[in-house]
Amino acid sequence: MNKIVVGNQKTYMTKDDINIFLDKFKCDSKDVIICPTSIYIPYYLEKGFKVGVQNIGLNSKGANTGEITAKQVLDMGLEYTIVGHSEIREHQKETDKQINQKIEEALKNNLKVILCVGETKEQRDMLKTNVILKRQITNDLRNIKDIGNVIIAYEPIWAIGTNEIPTNKEIKTTIEYIKELVLNSFKTDVKVLYGGSVNENNIKQINKIKNLDGVLVGKCSSNAVRFKSIIEVVVDQ
Ligand code: PGA
Repeated sequence: MNKIVVGNQKTYMTKDDINIFLDKFKCDSKDVIICPTSIYIPYYLEKGFKVGVQNIGLNSKGANTGEITAKQVLDMGLEYTIVGHSEIREHQKETDKQINQKIEEALKNNLKVILCVGETKEQRDMLKTNVILKRQITNDLRNIKDIGNVIIAYEPIWAIGTNEIPTNKEIKTTIEYIKELVLNSFKTDVKVLYGGSVNENNIKQINKIKNLDGVLVGKCSSNAVRFKSIIEVVVDQ
């Protein structure tokens, strides 16, 4: 099974940064998905990269100022959307119910979903990681039939942008927990990625984790050289 690398470029780049990135970044792997800030997506499509969005709107119907709908994402030839990123859960107070609705909307419009889940530092310290993950996954995937088109990204919130990551053993145990939970609830296997401070220095170590299906890279995906070094370790070229 091929591993995948997702780049979540958040709002790190402007047009000039993207020009520099696209000059240096060469990659024709179908297992690398770049999620730029939406307004810049055409630049990446022109170069033939596999592109996804960082979020979608709740509805494809009606008037939704400021949103991008699943239908429009598909219309632009994109295949993936990230859903439930912790920054959106936190900054926009996105609920599991809304995430569930977005997943349904994405799948209905033939998009693949990268669902982000993860615990805060406080929850981890209280040994509540599995309880939190179970609550998120159960609610986010409620009544979802097409689990085959869902990838889960385990992103401990305390590891995002901090250069602090769990041990390989901790990541492996958590991935195992997520896979078992999905298998028991939906009778199907699911790919699980790790995300949170993945960089060119720790990727060799992270990539040793046996049940890992790939990584979700934030900050480092906006730097061509750093992102490429990560891809070279994870994805067969
Ligand atoms: P990071 O972000 O790699 O910058 O820690 C990961 C993410 O938020 O998806």
